[in-house]
Order: sequence, then C-alpha cells, then structure tokens
Amino acid sequence: IPNIKIFSSSSHQDLSQETADCLGLELGKVVTKKFMYVENVYIIWSGCGEINNNLMAPLIMINTCKIVSASQLTAVIPCFPYAQQDKKDKSWVTISAKLVANMLSVAGADHIITMDLHASQIQGFFDIPVNYLYADLGVLKWIRENISERKNCAIVSSDAGGAKGVNSIEDRLNVDFDLVAILVDDMVDTCGTICHAADKLLLAGVTRVYAILTHSIFCGPAISHINNTCSKAVVVSNTIPQDDKMKHCSKIQVIDISMILAEAIRKTHNEESVSYLFSHVPL
Ligand SMILES: *[C@@H]1O[C@H](CO)[C@@H](O)[C@H](O)[C@H]1NC(C)=O
Ligand SMILES: *[C@@H]1O[C@H](CO)[C@@H](O)[C@H](O)[C@H]1NC(C)=O
Repeated sequence: IPNIKIFSSSSHQDLSQETADCLGLELGKVVTKKFMYVENVYIIWSGCGEINNNLMAPLIMINTCKIVSASQLTAVIPCFPYAQQDKKDKSWVTISAKLVANMLSVAGADHIITMDLHASQIQGFFDIPVNYLYADLGVLKWIRENISERKNCAIVSSDAGGAKGVNSIEDRLNVDFDLVAILVDDMVDTCGTICHAADKLLLAGVTRVYAILTHSIFCGPAISHINNTCSKAVVVSNTIPQDDKMKHCSKIQVIDISMILAEAIRKTHNEESVSYLFSHVPL
C-alpha cells in the first residue's frame, strides 16, 4: 500500500505489530525523518496500562506527525481511554471521554477508528469522523471454532439490562438438554459482576458458561474472581495486552482482533466504506 505509514504508541506494541503484519507493512520507527513525504499516517494506540502516561505520548506523536507532514492523520484506538467516564452523573464530575476526544482533535487527528465503545454517545463527542468497529466479527469466529455445543447456546449480558437477561434464562430453565451460556460484556475491570453472573447461571442448571469480553482491564481481584468462577473460559480480545494475565490464569483465552483493525485501515486508506466491513470481514 503506497503513501501510508503506521506507527505504534508504546501502550500496546504487540497489537500494532500484528495489525501491521496483516497489512504487510512495517511499523514506522518513531524517530525518523522518512515520513516527511507520507500522505496518510495511522497511529495505533490502545488506552491501557498506565492510562495517563499512555495518554500524552500518543498526543505528542499525533501532533508531531501533523506538524511534520501527514496530510491525513488517523488515530486507531481500539480501547478508548476513559470510555467509562461518559456522562455527568455527579455535578462535579468531568466527562473525561469527551476531554480525550477534544485533545485528539486539538493534537491534529483528522479521523478516529475505535472499537466497541462502552457507550455509543461517545461517538457524539467528536467533531471529526469516527469509524466504530465491533469485536463481534472475531468473537463469532472464536465461537464457531471453539464451542462445539453452540447450537444449544444462549447469549446473556451481565450489566444493567443484562441482569434481566440472566433472570429470564433462569425462569425458562428447566433444561433437560445441554444449555451453554455465553456471557458478553464490552468492558470489565474486576470481573466481579460477570463471574457472579456466570456462577448464577451454572447454579440455575446451565451446563457450561463462557464469558466473552472485549476490553478487559482485569485489575484488583479480577484474576482471583476468574480463578474462583466455575465458568469454562474467560475469553478476551487483545485490545488490551493479556500475556501477563494469561500466565497467571489458565482460563483466560484471547481473541485476536488485529485483522479487523487492519481491514479498517486498508479500507480507509482505499477510501472504501468501513461499514461494509461489518458484514464482510475476511475471517
Ligand atoms: C480457539 O481456541 C484456541 C485455543 O484457545 C485458539 O488457539 C484459537 O485461536 C481459537 N480460535 C479463534 C478463532 O480464536
Ligand atoms: C489463579 O490460579 C493460578 C493457577 O491456575 C495460580 O497460579 C494463580 O496464582 C491464581 N491467582 C490468584 C490471584 O488466585
């Protein structure tokens, strides 16, 4: 692909590398003069790890690229930082996700690509175009390959609306067949709610429970919650690095979403519609 350069902000080097590999490109070296003539720059940056340290570096990178040369600068942010701070639920609370959106524009981003936003209203925080990707494509592939009992499968959500989902399954459960539940959530931190929901489902008679999560921050007691739940596996996407946690917990499995990012970058660069991707991703 000509006239394109992909850079990684240090927060999640592996995902950036895998995305570049899917595109057959090399990641740009950050200190270089070579991108003087580049037209389109994509900076991959995931809001993970030391979130505040990892916020300023990509902003500086975006601003530098913009000043030096890039004619079109896209920030690819699979896990949007502060996505959980999306509304003013107390008078003194700032909407941090909106602040991040403003900072991206001020730094010089022309376009944002992000994935499974915790709250869709965040899309409205931007004055620049946003493409909203879904991890579903990777999730479906994982389910097809890894859950052989998927014909007897119920999809359950564990958050606000989701508690209802769990209860309605419980109500209908008088199962005399192998019912498998797949709990889904877009963003988890301590994993308390999702593990609790999983155990309730098992108590209610579900044979096996899988939890599938897009953005897994896994802080505090998350690993011990996962260790203690009786669910079969906790499957997470790699929008956040998971290698360390996988070493401490054999139940964690990873869905690779780099090819979704790569396809979105390729389509954006070729000025094709990204929404087409949702139904036609090459899996
Ligand atoms: C299915 O699970 C195996 C084992 O975790 C993994 O290697 C494989 O990548 C999974 N399939 C997909 C589509 O992720
Ligand atoms: C979780 O279980 C693994 C063994 O699978 C163990 O090595 C690890 O220390 C446990 N961690 C916690 C926090 O319970």
